[in-house]
Amino acid sequence: MKEQIDLIVKSLEDKMHDGLSLNDLESLRVAYLGKNGLLTAQMAVIKTLSNEDKPKFGQWINEAKQAIETKISDQKNFLLIQAMNAQLEKETIDVSLPGLNFKKGSLHPLTIVTQDLEDYFIGLGYKVAEGPELELDKYNFEMMNLASDHPAREMHDSFYVTTNTLLRTHTSPIQARYMEQAKGEPIAIIAPGKTYRRDPDDRTHSHQFMQCEGLVIDKDITFAHLKSTLLGMARHIFGAERTIRLRPSYFPFTEPSVEVDVSYITAEGKTEWIEVLGAGMVHPNVLEMGGYDAKVFSGFAFGIGIERIAILKYQIDDIRQFYTNDLRFLNQFKGVL
Ligand code: PHE
Repeated sequence: MKEQIDLIVKSLEDKMHDGLSLNDLESLRVAYLGKNGLLTAQMAVIKTLSNEDKPKFGQWINEAKQAIETKISDQKNFLLIQAMNAQLEKETIDVSLPGLNFKKGSLHPLTIVTQDLEDYFIGLGYKVAEGPELELDKYNFEMMNLASDHPAREMHDSFYVTTNTLLRTHTSPIQARYMEQAKGEPIAIIAPGKTYRRDPDDRTHSHQFMQCEGLVIDKDITFAHLKSTLLGMARHIFGAERTIRLRPSYFPFTEPSVEVDVSYITAEGKTEWIEVLGAGMVHPNVLEMGGYDAKVFSGFAFGIGIERIAILKYQIDDIRQFYTNDLRFLNQFKGVL
């Protein structure tokens, strides 16, 4: 009886060969193990056996069934894996193909200049501060020593939003805000940001522009500190051969006050000067309003015109180029800084 069963298993082995498809294998499974399968037919024999022989026979049948199942399913798995590998082979990615090219943007020239200024001043230990663009009259003017009847307010053709709020006309209100919260501690900050004035737009004027404010307050701060800081700034931005020129000027919030020009060499080899900032020693009234004893503390402040720096550095002939988003203009700053 065992031989009979072994023969059945052997006959399956003879039928298994490489060319069989998944369907062929399934047919074989049915032919051997299905309801009318060859092995299944052997089950009928059990009835004819003695009780003693039944378990042994049952065991042979089970072993044969296992063997047949394993052979068929192993071959099925082999075919499936082969198919999957073939599929993977077809789908391999050609890594040597050039990828999709993303359009890369670049930093705006005003951002480049701002970051360059930040680099210089952070290197000197300054913190970077900021303030709101919609500002209170109190910070924009009053605490900057420009009382409501001060004639110098005229110079700041302002965009008022309500009677006591306006788009800040300079970054100086950040000085007042910072002093208020520093509560008498020494200060060294810069504060870059947008500013607004009712200037008609032309090649050299814009109703919106950028400034970088600076404020240092401590004991024994002198005009020499201001001058060397600004000379260092000019050389950091424009190169070691540059120099600066200070012209006496007037700002209500500084005394004495200066306008600072940076030198440049013209095409004809002549030294010329261009104004890039206003500065001075912080006015005692400003110190006092900000909570500092003007007899103990002194300080300097400056307001740099960021567009002016960029115009000079990149030889730009029309300030409106900065704001009109012309890609032919902006693409020239790719890879700068
Ligand atoms: N706020 C001045 C301006 O807008 C610049 C300035 C800042 C001058 C700080 C002196 C000190 O013109």
